[in-house]
Amino acid sequence: MCGIVGYVGNGNASDFLIDGLRRLEYRGYDSAGIAVYDHGEIKIEKKQGRLVNLENVLKDHPLSGHIGIGHTRWATHGKPSDVNAHPHGDCHNHFVIVHNGIIENYMTLKKDLMAKGHVFKSETDTEIVAHVLEEVDDGDFLSTVQKMLTIIEGSYSLVILDAAHPDTIICTKKNNPLIIGLGKGENFIASDIPAVINHTRDIYILQDEELAIVTKGSVQLLDRDGNPIHKEIQKVTWSAAAAEKGGYPHFMLKEIFEQPKAVHDTVAIHLNKDGSVNFDDLGWTKECFEGITNILITACGTAYHAGLVAKHYIERFVKIPVSVEIASEYRYSKPLTSEHTLCIVVSQSGETIDTLEALKEAKRHGARSLAVTNSIGSSIAREADHVVYTLAGPEIAVASTKAYTTQLVALLLLALYMSQLKNSISADLIQKITEGLKDLPKQIEKVLGEKDHMSDVADRLIKAHDIFYLGRSIDYAIAMEGALKLKEVSYIHAESYAAGELKHGTLALITQETPVIAVATQDNVSSKMYSNIQEVKARGAEVLGIGYDDDEEIGKYTTETVRIPRVDPFIAPILSVIPMQLLAYYTSIKRGNDVDKPRNLAKSVTVE
Ligand code: AGP
Ligand code: GLU
Repeated sequence: MCGIVGYVGNGNASDFLIDGLRRLEYRGYDSAGIAVYDHGEIKIEKKQGRLVNLENVLKDHPLSGHIGIGHTRWATHGKPSDVNAHPHGDCHNHFVIVHNGIIENYMTLKKDLMAKGHVFKSETDTEIVAHVLEEVDDGDFLSTVQKMLTIIEGSYSLVILDAAHPDTIICTKKNNPLIIGLGKGENFIASDIPAVINHTRDIYILQDEELAIVTKGSVQLLDRDGNPIHKEIQKVTWSAAAAEKGGYPHFMLKEIFEQPKAVHDTVAIHLNKDGSVNFDDLGWTKECFEGITNILITACGTAYHAGLVAKHYIERFVKIPVSVEIASEYRYSKPLTSEHTLCIVVSQSGETIDTLEALKEAKRHGARSLAVTNSIGSSIAREADHVVYTLAGPEIAVASTKAYTTQLVALLLLALYMSQLKNSISADLIQKITEGLKDLPKQIEKVLGEKDHMSDVADRLIKAHDIFYLGRSIDYAIAMEGALKLKEVSYIHAESYAAGELKHGTLALITQETPVIAVATQDNVSSKMYSNIQEVKARGAEVLGIGYDDDEEIGKYTTETVRIPRVDPFIAPILSVIPMQLLAYYTSIKRGNDVDKPRNLAKSVTVE
């Protein structure tokens, strides 16, 4: 999910590779490495940590050659370490590769290849690709790569060196970006434009399953069947800063639009072909739940809001009572946690000190623990007994968006998995929801189409002093996240309320000056929600409703409605939060705020 670079030309490959990786550094990553064809063999240097660690290694062991590949890693399989860093080679470093993405069938392939005598060095899914290439090698670089592509499943940008063809790089991609920069007597490969922008502005953008055979003097483009294709050269007109954001004006907007892919990746690694859910890596059995009488979820901010949604999932499916606690409160609360508690902590960064300390406190009381985090090898991942990773990729904007939706997906899948083990709900219901999750990336795309609509609504919110977010049941938890998002980036006071509770006091605050956002996706309480919308409308409030596209009722009561596709109510929160993210984003930029770095806030909060 991080950076890839490749070089072939007359220059010193290492110079471009390191410079290209440095230009991708803004994304943050956990390790870096390069491979160069140097005096008759492919040599690899790689190092955990920041790029400077790799540069220090290269000072003592320089790699010199005219063709090479490089990578900055954001681990998905295997902790950040020197060995797990890319590039990866086969048993003899004949094929050496860098990879972004996830090889979904790596486990099965690894077993087969080990049985055939292949020796693996790393814990990554990526290394499998090099060994598959070695296994199917027929002496023809292209046909070997094509054979490999029929065997691996998953998402990838792959850049490949073959020691038998030391003047050629072959690269390909599926669901991950890859571009080729065209130079004079040299060509460049990169996952992102900033890596090449200093060398050329002429690029090819590869589409899924296309291949490129790159030498210093030529770039041959092929479709998935190996037929030559013609592609227009694109001229990059962006500045280097704009290029970092992939053409989006801000990271927050880019990350909102990355949600279809982030959700797809997080779902794909946990689904079996028969629609059942797979967290077999956890090593859990039915017996593991026998002594568990309660589940504690603890986290901060947006991750805490994900926990509030998960309470509904777990109680409904797993049928174990769940309490959700703000981590900074929990840790000083003299809790009743015991060895009968399963403690789940949720954290994008994996470094939030309040959450880490809450986890330690729960463990001190004997709880078993599981972390849901986006950061492999983080402090929280290391502290917890078990870890489930969200595959959102690096999140740079302070306001969490894609990390949140992937947390919801991971927690929903986890609840289904626990219920599968406990046999507490039917296989049909599990399959119905997993089918829904497979379609979710497409549904998210549709909701992202509401971008301009939300920008128009933001025009009317920018002058407001207070905005209320209402919902019932799961929609209340989503309303809390919507309000937080608006507050942190727009600096407008926003409050979320359980819609039924409003009349017990807070209704006094509702006037025509207080816009209301009302979420209505939970069918069992929708009629009650419509009544609550009418209550605030009657006090003069303008109401933006968020409801299903086939909900004919809601539009009768709201001032305006934004529609999401009809999905299972358990999946709905993952869609209904998106208009609220967009609304927060547009309100912030229309008020002239620094949306990616809101005042007083930091991305990773490592102080109490
Ligand atoms: C989210 O938009 C916030 N910036 C913040 O609430 C964040 O979710 C919280 O600080 C927890 O961070 P974590 O997920 O990295 O632990
Ligand atoms: N899945 C690979 C790994 O964990 C690639 C990760 C990446 O895209 O950086 O090594």
